Amino acid sequence: MADAPLILGIETSCDETGIGIVRGHTLLADALASSVAEHARFGGVVPEVASRAHLEAIVPTMDRALAEAGVTIADIDAIAVTSGPGLAGALLVGVAAAKGYALAAEKPVYGVNHLAAHVAVDTLEHGPLPEPAIALLVSGGHSSLLLVDDLARGVTPLGATIDDAAGEAFDKVARLLGLPFPGGPYVDREAAAGDPAAIGFPRGLTAAKDLAAHRYDFSFSGLKTAVARWVEARQRAGEPVPVADVAASFQEAVCDVLTAKALAACQAHGVDTLVIGGGVAANSRLRVLAEQRAAKLGIRVRVPRPKLCTDNGAMVAALGSHLVAAGVAPSRLDLPADSALPLTTVSV
Ligand code: KG4
Ligand code: ZN
Repeated sequence: MADAPLILGIETSCDETGIGIVRGHTLLADALASSVAEHARFGGVVPEVASRAHLEAIVPTMDRALAEAGVTIADIDAIAVTSGPGLAGALLVGVAAAKGYALAAEKPVYGVNHLAAHVAVDTLEHGPLPEPAIALLVSGGHSSLLLVDDLARGVTPLGATIDDAAGEAFDKVARLLGLPFPGGPYVDREAAAGDPAAIGFPRGLTAAKDLAAHRYDFSFSGLKTAVARWVEARQRAGEPVPVADVAASFQEAVCDVLTAKALAACQAHGVDTLVIGGGVAANSRLRVLAEQRAAKLGIRVRVPRPKLCTDNGAMVAALGSHLVAAGVAPSRLDLPADSALPLTTVSV
């Protein structure tokens, strides 16, 4: 791998400005600037604030990544950038930067899919991904199950959330419990001290009548409402809300459904590798439960370390590296920032 191409990845689809550099499957730099603190008081990411923060952070983050890897832009063989999906104005900053650097340094540029990058990042930790694999992608904006036949050329969607994304549910429940934004890590921490069986929250789209049409789809909106009603009833009765138990029981409901459906997809497709990516893949209970249930079925679970699960530039570089190795042609220099880029388009 010593002579594998040197790939730089740029990520600006949401609130993290990420620039990563990889050679083959080896991570050389992963520079990150987050605007999350600027959004916290609004309880969600404010697109205009995010775009502005990317604009301010992109050049310093680029300089940090190059310094961390000990290379210059002239040494880079190709630049990959998140083309979509994501916030339009935020994506535009990364895409414009990628074009500028590519043009100035005469490098090929690959516009890539953010969700495919969440899958590709695992190769930096566990090496080449066996194909076919099933991928469970769970982030603040997306929850999908995919059949990955050929990550360089296309993925097959099996199911997705029909309402809230898993991360969104974590963030909303955190808010109900008075925890800070983004709520996932705080719910995770609270849940560690709670009883996951304390409250029997609903498991969306798992009833026999729902499975026919929604076997691999998710729904978290009913769960979020059930948590809200439960908390309100406590408050009305003047009783304290057992935050740790609510967090643990909610988290258990989410992780139960995610792992059950992902492993059912593995079995139905005769696939023995499940890769989990996206911010919610950082969840400690999801990691343990997936591992335990998969082991019983002889299925191998691959989840990258938490820092690689949430948005970063290394994941974009990892997908770029995979595309270059697979001989995929670069994008045109007028490549778009496409906020609604379909999951099936790995590179534009
Ligand atoms: O992939 P990501 O960084 O950004 C998107 O593409 O959306 O995912 C962010 C989401 C947030 O909703 C956050 O609350 C959630 O991932 N998250 C977690 C954990 N860490 C981050 N959810 C549950 N448990 C965690 N430990
Ligand atoms: Zn993401």
